[in-house]
Amino acid sequence: MTPSDLKATLSFNDGSPSIELPVYKGTVGPDVIDIRKLYAQMGRFTYDPGFMSTASCKSAITYIDGDKGELLYRGYPIEELATQCDFPEISYLLLKGELPNPEQKQRFKNLVTHHTMVHEQERTFFQGFPRDSHPMAILTGCVGALSAFYHDTLDIHDPRQREISAIRIIAKLPTLVAMTYRYHIGQPFMYPRNTLSYSANFMHMMFANPCEEYVINEVLARALDRILILHADHEQNASTSTVRLAGSSGANPFACIASGIACLWGPAHGGANEAALKMLEDIGAPERIPEFIKQVKNKRSDVKLMGFGHRVYKNYDPRARLMRATCHEVLQELGLHNDPLFKLAMALEKVALEDEYFISRKLYPNVDFYSGIVLRALRIPSTMFTCIFAMARSVGWIAQWDEMTSDPDQKIGRPRQLFVGQTPRMVKPIGQR
Ligand code: CMC
Repeated sequence: MTPSDLKATLSFNDGSPSIELPVYKGTVGPDVIDIRKLYAQMGRFTYDPGFMSTASCKSAITYIDGDKGELLYRGYPIEELATQCDFPEISYLLLKGELPNPEQKQRFKNLVTHHTMVHEQERTFFQGFPRDSHPMAILTGCVGALSAFYHDTLDIHDPRQREISAIRIIAKLPTLVAMTYRYHIGQPFMYPRNTLSYSANFMHMMFANPCEEYVINEVLARALDRILILHADHEQNASTSTVRLAGSSGANPFACIASGIACLWGPAHGGANEAALKMLEDIGAPERIPEFIKQVKNKRSDVKLMGFGHRVYKNYDPRARLMRATCHEVLQELGLHNDPLFKLAMALEKVALEDEYFISRKLYPNVDFYSGIVLRALRIPSTMFTCIFAMARSVGWIAQWDEMTSDPDQKIGRPRQLFVGQTPRMVKPIGQR
């Protein structure tokens, strides 16, 4: 954060003195006005519900330029990372700031691989959940429960302990997600297999069974890896901000990641690919698209075109372009290019991209418009989609948590409010109310 010569002056039309505020420059992106002393000096807060114009922290991890449709992890464009690296390399990059060399990659991979099992006692938690629980409900509980097992690494002020916690989260999330699925469908848990890659091991834990050999399809494992890379981090989105806010009180990393998972579950965030797929199933056939679009445009209907629109990307979501390519690759591999749902998605995408309503509001497909179709082709049921997103995003969450926790300027998050309720009044005795 570099202070600049630029200062912002805030003046009022009620005769109170104006105030000069420092302005900081990031390495790229908009300048920020430092309002930290505003209340102390002026007795006024700023008002910004939804943080439309507020930088809640400084960060060196992910940069998004929504107008350009640009996403960088540690300075590298997502297009290059998604086509040249695998998910463990991306995890290393997000956590440590640089891509690993071959030796560093091998060491990191070994470390993650040797932390993939969960404590046997953790398995018993699953039995408490009804089999038809939403998988995100199970995952939120079981990830939060990890804090009960790792007292040895809960000192958040020790960088070494923070690093071990990060490795545990990256390593154990796939195991817990797969266990959630196996429990849901009533099949035995499969232990991790150390000879497989991160994504292939996840597919093994999801789909293998103890009775026969499971053969990994490399095209599908690579598609899953790409989904993980594209969802690994996304700057200060709702769930990441939730993780940071939870962590700002000094809460342990497992509890913070569980809070991120809970936030991610919402349909406007991580639930979007499940919702997009459901939307396609509800539309059912291309001839019903015009009627559906009419409902979307009707402000009283509450119907949204799921998988379209983004708070930050106002021209194109760069992840969507990469996911669209993966979508074609996977459907080709599986001989599903004539899949009716995919054809319907393509028809809907075309109609929306040519419609003035969506053009004028800068609404374009986001990554989740396509990721649902890919996940469905991988035989992952739609109720599990947000769990896969959580597994990917957990690396971003833990990197952001670590960055925040190691920042000496870090303070507990405590937003203020514009109070619009009752002014002070007296309680009347019950008979007089
Ligand atoms: N379908 C129809 N209209 C929409 C949509 C949509 N998907 N998204 C926004 N609009 C309209 C909205 O009604 C508003 O219209 P008007 O100006 O007439 O009032 C205008 O576009 C601006 O929308 P907004 O709600 O101010 O935009 P926002 O930045 O607050 O919302 C969003 C962003 C992602 C919540 C929203 O676009 C949305 O709900 N999209 C569908 C859900 C979705 O696909 N979410 C996944 C996001 S990508 C995954 C992730 O990063 O978490």
